[in-house]
Amino acid sequence: MHVTVTGGAGFIGSNLVRELLREGASVTVIDDFSTGRADNLPPHPELTVIEGDIRDEDAVRRAVRGARIVFHLAASVGNQRAIDDPIGDSEINIIGTMRVLLAASEQRARKVIASSSAAVYGEARALPIAEKAALMPRTPYAASKLAMEFQADALAQLTGIEVACLRYFNVYGQHQHFDLDGNVIPIFARRMLEDEPIAIYGDGEQTRDFIHVDDVVAANLAAVRSSRAQGVFNVASGVGVSINELVGLMGALLQRPVSTYQAGPRRGDVRHSYADINAAWRAFGYRPRVPLKDGLQRYLAWFQDLAPPPGRLAPLAHKEEPLHV
Ligand SMILES: NC(=O)c1ccc[n+]([C@@H]2O[C@H](COP(=O)([O-])OP(=O)(O)OC[C@H]3O[C@@H](n4cnc5c(N)ncnc54)[C@H](O)[C@@H]3O)[C@@H](O)[C@H]2O)c1
Repeated sequence: MHVTVTGGAGFIGSNLVRELLREGASVTVIDDFSTGRADNLPPHPELTVIEGDIRDEDAVRRAVRGARIVFHLAASVGNQRAIDDPIGDSEINIIGTMRVLLAASEQRARKVIASSSAAVYGEARALPIAEKAALMPRTPYAASKLAMEFQADALAQLTGIEVACLRYFNVYGQHQHFDLDGNVIPIFARRMLEDEPIAIYGDGEQTRDFIHVDDVVAANLAAVRSSRAQGVFNVASGVGVSINELVGLMGALLQRPVSTYQAGPRRGDVRHSYADINAAWRAFGYRPRVPLKDGLQRYLAWFQDLAPPPGRLAPLAHKEEPLHV
């Protein structure tokens, strides 16, 4: 089967591409390498990589040609990036997504699996967060991901193409590189390995739902296989872990003392976040398989094998504890 992965050189996209190739698919990736990396992707005879922007109609048409399934992951990712550049976020996540959806339906693809985010919920009124919870985006990123979901739904109704939007919570795992605008786990890992103190925003008792990338990849593949996988679905572990617990767990796994300091609350932060994952179970049999401790152990082993970064870290404390990305 031929499939297209937008954002396939990124963290989640490259893990998905590897699994698709392993399962025998022929894969075309479109990526502008703004945050993605060529070395995330293995050389493979069934892999074609197009360096291009999802806002570019011709590049997207070329990338989607002949694909039965389109996995749409390319995005301006994260709350902080969108707060810094809301126009760029909207252009990529809204206009770019529309180009991908239109190209997929023109090419008569059977299905689009789009990567959405738990950020669409904003501050939850009830826990765990189910898909029918109120949607209260608090950042431009959350709003553009929600716009993407509405675009996808509208196009599905107009054209009959199947669309599933998967709302990932906090994804971590191999090929997730350190990025100050990115996920908290690589940031904590690098701080700990450099014996730098870690900024804890607020009291550290805020909870997040951490999900290993292997489970996210499995959810994408399961959603392809089930015609009941249409609409929006949480993809998460279903377990809330506080930032203090996460720091303790990572410190114990790395077997080193960790020093922390308190920083004020961050704009756009929510207090508690963990998901109800029953809808994805009912529609396509999704269940997370990687416990946090095992996933972190594997991630830290991968992270430590990377070449050490040049120099010491800049003290960019205000960007240290991102929320959902
Ligand atoms: N990592 C998480 O915790 C998380 C949580 C919720 C949702 N998501 C969503 O999952 C998807 C993948 O995220 P990720 O964590 O792998 O991030 P990532 O930054 O590693 O991947 C995004 C990829 O898209 C590419 N890209 C960005 N703008 C592009 C453009 N205009 N044209 C073509 N390619 C472009 C980047 O180069 C990168 O390879 C995104 O849609 C993101 O919003 C991620």
